[in-house]
Amino acid sequence: MTILRGVKGMNDILPDEIGRWHRVEKAFARAASLHGFREVRTPYLEPTPLFVRTIGEATDVVEKEMYSFSHHDEPLTLRPEGTAGAARAFVEHAIHGKEQVSRWYYVGPMFRAERPQRGRYRQFYQAGAEIFGDAGPGCDAEMIEMLVTFLAAIGVPGVEVLVNSLGGADARAKYKAALVTYLEPKKGELSAESQRRLGTNPLRILDSKSPTDQAALDGAPTIHEFLDDADRAHFAALQRHLTALGTPFVVAPKLVRGLDYYTRTLFEIKGAKEKLGAGDTLVGGGRYDGMVEELGGPSVPAIGFAAGLERLLIASELTSEGAVVDAFVAPLGDAAIDHALVLGRDLRAAGVSCEVDARGGSLKSQLRRANSVGARVALVVGDREVAEGVVQVKDLAGHTQESVARATVVSVVTERVRSAVPAASDGRS
Ligand code: HAM
Repeated sequence: MTILRGVKGMNDILPDEIGRWHRVEKAFARAASLHGFREVRTPYLEPTPLFVRTIGEATDVVEKEMYSFSHHDEPLTLRPEGTAGAARAFVEHAIHGKEQVSRWYYVGPMFRAERPQRGRYRQFYQAGAEIFGDAGPGCDAEMIEMLVTFLAAIGVPGVEVLVNSLGGADARAKYKAALVTYLEPKKGELSAESQRRLGTNPLRILDSKSPTDQAALDGAPTIHEFLDDADRAHFAALQRHLTALGTPFVVAPKLVRGLDYYTRTLFEIKGAKEKLGAGDTLVGGGRYDGMVEELGGPSVPAIGFAAGLERLLIASELTSEGAVVDAFVAPLGDAAIDHALVLGRDLRAAGVSCEVDARGGSLKSQLRRANSVGARVALVVGDREVAEGVVQVKDLAGHTQESVARATVVSVVTERVRSAVPAASDGRS
């Protein structure tokens, strides 16, 4: 019989790996709540037009990466990102009428039919946040500072922040026209993909990886020449705030991103380039001041970002959370199993996590299992212990053993587990 395999580019996260995921997710939730963000959960499936309207028809995501299907004539798409769904929920529940500023965060799976490779998957997880109702640039700077602090907390080396401003719709339209005028005579030098983009989405040519495209762009106008005074003041203030916060950044005038909804502030964060490859971005974000209105709401400014969790895990130096349980109960012989189960229940009621090996088996094999689940103590109960009303408590790290009265063993073990140094070596948070 052939083994059925999972979908290409969609990975299992096995229990051995989940400890690092939990640590990164906890650090993210902590950073977000310290900054006043509250969690939002939106559906994985959304109506297809939501993404077409917000991300843009002429983007890679909408043109070729969405998992879309029709169910009873309703066009549906597995969300390729979280911003459009968050903005839809914001409008649908008329949140703007309830509070002036909303700070939302989310962690969850996204789906894009990309060519899978290290750091690029078809189901991947994003940790993201959105602020609705604050036109910035103070909150833009604060968001970037939060990310830099979070990345430091999870041990990502070599963090680099790139910022740019795309201006408003007017500036972008003028810039697009100027870029097309500049590139049209050089069309023959451009890659096939960029030649096509010249007619559909010329700004995307700016972040083409092709050396010939980049050579053709040498001397091209930059968006900065087209920003109006308000855009310029916004971008200058963002840089001033970041400097005041001591958050290092680099202005990247050619930075554009793959989604059409951005206005004004745009940023990317890279890090751990030797592990991830220079091309891979850890975090991408920016303003999308027009989206809420585009979705039928009032004019509400917004900014957000998303970080790819798999990429954060490749980049992070965090180790796994160590032990699975604090204590391990090893019954010797059938008669001891009832006692072991009751002892396990009593330990858990006292807050001590424990596994009872109700399969029984030899002491040696049970102790091997106790070590493999990282237990600090093993509690051995055999016929003799039951008869004498005691339990053998084995300290698995210290290799000591003592006989403790059944009546006091729960408090003795609770005390021992609590007073154990939260092992930095096993990376417990
Ligand atoms: P994005 O740049 O498309 O932005 O994705 C953000 C991050 O998600 C990337 O920097 C990367 O870490 C991760 N990512 C994207 N695609 C993949 C993939 N195929 N495999 C693994 N990781 C991936 C957004 O999604 C916007 N919604 C961000 C945003 C929020 N802008 C405003 N608010």
